[in-house]
Amino acid sequence: MRRAKISVIGAGNVGATTAHWCASNELGDIVLLDIPAAEDMPKGKALDLMQSSPIMGFDSSIQGTTDYADTANSDVVVITAGIARKPGMSRDDLLSTNAKIVSSVAEQVAATSPDSVIIVVSNPLDAMVQQVQKVCGFPHRRVIGQAGVLDTARYRTFLAMELGVSVEDVSALLMGGHGDTMVPMPSCTSIGGVPVTRLLSKERLEEIVDRARKGGAEIVGLLKTGSAYYAPAAATAQMVEAIVKDKRRMIPCAAYCDSEYGVGGYYVGVPVVLGGNGVEKVVELELEPQEKADFKNSVDAVQELVATMDQLMASS
Ligand code: APR
Repeated sequence: MRRAKISVIGAGNVGATTAHWCASNELGDIVLLDIPAAEDMPKGKALDLMQSSPIMGFDSSIQGTTDYADTANSDVVVITAGIARKPGMSRDDLLSTNAKIVSSVAEQVAATSPDSVIIVVSNPLDAMVQQVQKVCGFPHRRVIGQAGVLDTARYRTFLAMELGVSVEDVSALLMGGHGDTMVPMPSCTSIGGVPVTRLLSKERLEEIVDRARKGGAEIVGLLKTGSAYYAPAAATAQMVEAIVKDKRRMIPCAAYCDSEYGVGGYYVGVPVVLGGNGVEKVVELELEPQEKADFKNSVDAVQELVATMDQLMASS
């Protein structure tokens, strides 16, 4: 049986770390691609990673390249190409530059790996995933954005730290856009089966949600020279695993919603069943009144972001 082929476009911090997690979990053979101006950098990173395999005990191969021909017929393509957020820069500041970058990547991926499932990681995520799908023209279920797994992981980490319990016992869900309007879902958050609202006050919970919302900016402020990559890459690798192993994980992703949740044709963070075909199903929950209002607010922000991107792309 052939191993899955996973191509990671953008061999920077998030891309190389995603390749690392995918290889060490033996999810498939990996191709790490960057722009020609990067010269031999992707080859160097790939070779370095390969040389960790006898120590770490994995058999995945990792190839570095600047040529899309090497990515041909990938099963999964992860797009991390773009510029990373710098201190003081919001995700939206990245909009124009990264929209052009992901558009050119989407064109190449459509030509070389027409049957792949694409996971978009580049920010601002909700707009980039919309743009990639528009350019590549793949069915919506085969173009997915990575945001919810990361946001929820940040939230779970902070809840575990607050309560002094194992992260393994914290189960949570956040919905909506990947940004300041993401929607906490206290009714879907539990610690060892106990609803979080029985363990924490509403006020404290809101503070923790707020830290998760600003989790990316907190890391940018600390790193000063780039943005987060360990957790974003781990989140991406979990999505790759769900696809290549057809695990049907129920996890939050940026998925295309039309009639679902009344979104009307945008990518937004919702719980999905993720498997071999990409999004097998968008899971629709009955939202409580506050959740519904917060979700609408978040979808409005995503719509605005996409409209701004469309204007910028039309005028350039
Ligand atoms: N094709 C392929 N790779 C590209 C292209 C392109 N058209 N344009 C830029 N790149 C590459 C850069 O050369 C660089 O190696 O993308 C890489 C980005 O790496 P970093 O600058 O280290 O950024 P990183 O931290 O990996 O973040 C990448 O993921 O989480 C998001 O907000 C983050 O949008 C950012 C993306």
